[in-house]
Amino acid sequence: MESKMVSPLKPTILLFIASLVAAAYLTSSEAADSKPSFEDNFDIMWSEDHFTTSEDGQIWHLSLDKETGCGFQTKQRYRFGWFSMKLKLVGGDSAGVVTAYYMCTENGAGPERDELDFEFLGNRSGQPYLIQTNVYKNGTGGREMRHMLWFDPTEDFHTYSILWNNHQIVFFVDKVPVRVFKNNGEENSFFPNEKPMYLFSSIWNADDWATRGGLEKTDWKKAPFVSSYKDFNVDACQWEDPYPACVSTTAKNWWDQYDAWHLSDDQKLDYAWVQRNLVIYDYCKDTERYPTLPWECSLSPWD
Ligand SMILES: *[C@@H]1O[C@H](CO)[C@@H](O)[C@H](O)[C@H]1NC(C)=O
Ligand SMILES: *[C@@H]1O[C@H](CO)[C@@H](O)[C@H](O)[C@H]1NC(C)=O
Repeated sequence: MESKMVSPLKPTILLFIASLVAAAYLTSSEAADSKPSFEDNFDIMWSEDHFTTSEDGQIWHLSLDKETGCGFQTKQRYRFGWFSMKLKLVGGDSAGVVTAYYMCTENGAGPERDELDFEFLGNRSGQPYLIQTNVYKNGTGGREMRHMLWFDPTEDFHTYSILWNNHQIVFFVDKVPVRVFKNNGEENSFFPNEKPMYLFSSIWNADDWATRGGLEKTDWKKAPFVSSYKDFNVDACQWEDPYPACVSTTAKNWWDQYDAWHLSDDQKLDYAWVQRNLVIYDYCKDTERYPTLPWECSLSPWD
């Protein structure tokens, strides 16, 4: 019986069946590790009509025109962890345009917010983007650093990440630590570690300050300006009121463990290279602005 059933099948039919089986298998395995959709993780903050996605929904585009910019934020808040996203920035003449990727304890610029910022400052064609990072605690910022990048961030996607635990905040570009912000462990230090944060991305016009201190204005003839995002990756303690179990530092999570409290030897080499070659501005060196430097400037990033 069995052999009779099989034998009449022609090779072409067998192939057809094989491909059906393969297709079914692919579909189920894709479903099993299918990527989360935008809506799983994020909400649009403003101007839904300036937000588009690629056909498969995995690349997200924010656009800025004369009317408005656009932004999105995570649905969840987190306290401590690893936060990562790939960004491709507005190309060409983007003076005055700021693409931001940041974490903040609230949706707004409230007087008691904590915040960790990556801001990408656009420039005239052929002139390099700068990245600015900043840290806010309880509404106070002024902790800017500016770096050049070692690549053109408008040509390809690159990964921008933040490691945040109770010992340090590290800003990474493609796994290279470009900035280390340390906690000295004292209460009331300038280190955001109490409040959970959302993660945000946005694009807006900042031609009053962004490029050469506001001298370079946004050229609206070049609008719309579009920045693209993909591969959001969060490995963190998701906040639940009143206090999620993962916050009490049981050191179960790699981002809270000893190895994540300081740079590794390899990271130190990369960090030293960045410090030597790419730093344009460091508030800890700006004694005109800070005749008495903020206390955290005395903490060593090498510890
Ligand atoms: C945070 O800042 C507000 C003023 O903006 C102040 O009243 C409050 O005491 C500050 N909180 C802490 C913990 O420093
Ligand atoms: C724009 O490019 C010029 C020339 O390289 C540079 O001096 C300036 O700092 C850049 N400005 C920004 C905001 O990137």
